[in-house]
Amino acid sequence: DKAQQDALKKAAGIEAAKLIENGMIAGLGTGSTVRFLVDELGRRVQEEGLQFTGVTTSRRTQEQAEGYGIKIVDIDDVDHIDVCIDGADEVDANFNGIKGGGAALLWEKIVAVNSDKIVWIVDQSKVVDVIGKFPLPVEVIPFGAAHVIERFEKRGYKPVLRLDAEGKPVRTDENNYVVDLHLERIDNPQELALDLITTVGVVEHGLFLNMVDEVIVGDPDGPRKMFN
Ligand code: A5P
Repeated sequence: DKAQQDALKKAAGIEAAKLIENGMIAGLGTGSTVRFLVDELGRRVQEEGLQFTGVTTSRRTQEQAEGYGIKIVDIDDVDHIDVCIDGADEVDANFNGIKGGGAALLWEKIVAVNSDKIVWIVDQSKVVDVIGKFPLPVEVIPFGAAHVIERFEKRGYKPVLRLDAEGKPVRTDENNYVVDLHLERIDNPQELALDLITTVGVVEHGLFLNMVDEVIVGDPDGPRKMFN
């Protein structure tokens, strides 16, 4: 159930917080699992005097971190990021994953590719044999979005424009739309990634292929690590 899943997410988040040391520059991801990570880092800042600098992947995470007094800087004001810790929606044994369930995939990917090391924190339910059961998020420019969706439709991608509670299109931190592809299984993620990124109007997609270095999995027996 949800309470148990949250406990696993929290355990993974607390484990990952141990990777942050004084003086580091850390990329901070987005989502419910990362919330636990930031809570723990905030606790260490306040109780243990931990000093580090954060680069955030969403305004939500920035607000949470700054609430704890964590120093957040713009990505273009740092010359490197030591480690980026983020959540994920699915990950397979080849370290191919889906991200963007929280609509933050674009900034997440930008922070990730600029980080020396990438770590994901997930509960065990997200480790899968084949990715794609989780609808694949694609960030699309609003101008002409209906035509992009039609193209996806023709390619059999089962696209659904993501809407908020009021029925309006969800907007990303860059003010774009998110289209979720209900593929059920993705057998050739490389091919799909290339097809998506070369579609005019697509800004980025949630396939993060073999990018992650380490996955910390919240498991009932305690957090375990998968190294790439
Ligand atoms: C945000 O856009 C996503 O990539 C999240 O990192 C991902 O959806 C995991 O979120 P949860 O930790 O809330 O499951």
